[in-house]
Amino acid sequence: MKVSFVYYSNTGHTSSVAAEAAKRLESIGVETTQIDVVRDEDKEVPTDVDGMVFMTPVNAFSLPQQMTDFFATCPSFKPGTPAVVFVNQGLWTPVLGGNRTARQLTDAVQALGCDVKDVTIVSWNKKRVPKIDAFLSRLTEVFS
Ligand SMILES: Cc1cc2nc3c(=O)[nH]c(=O)nc-3n(C[C@H](O)[C@H](O)[C@H](O)COP(=O)(O)O)c2cc1C
Repeated sequence: MKVSFVYYSNTGHTSSVAAEAAKRLESIGVETTQIDVVRDEDKEVPTDVDGMVFMTPVNAFSLPQQMTDFFATCPSFKPGTPAVVFVNQGLWTPVLGGNRTARQLTDAVQALGCDVKDVTIVSWNKKRVPKIDAFLSRLTEVFS
């Protein structure tokens, strides 16, 4: 099974979870590839995959422009390709934008033909570890 990760990470939080998640999937025999939408701008997006993982922080209560730019040129996937979505947020205000960003990301991923199997929103605070663990467990369930 082949699973590709697509993510944006400004300060390294999202990319650290992407690396951990890829390691977890590799440990159960899944072949993974990673695309950082900024650093790997010129890399071809593999569409012949069995699954996709899309990961982003919240920026300005919204999906970051870097992800929007990525989706503007991303080719479609095979209809029904299973996908998992991960959003992380970090403000200390009552409204963080995680739900809105998760909806935006889910819509963008569905528009490319993917079937979104799971959506996780994590607040990047001291309580994040069990939530990230739960995300990793769901990921292995979806892609095993
Ligand atoms: C430019 C910028 C805008 C941000 N806007 C929000 C926001 O609207 N809501 C929120 O909860 N966190 C916001 N954050 C915090 C990040 O979402 C949070 O720290 C996240 O964990 C960063 O992930 P990253 O290191 O992968 O970029 C913002 C951070 C930056 C740098």
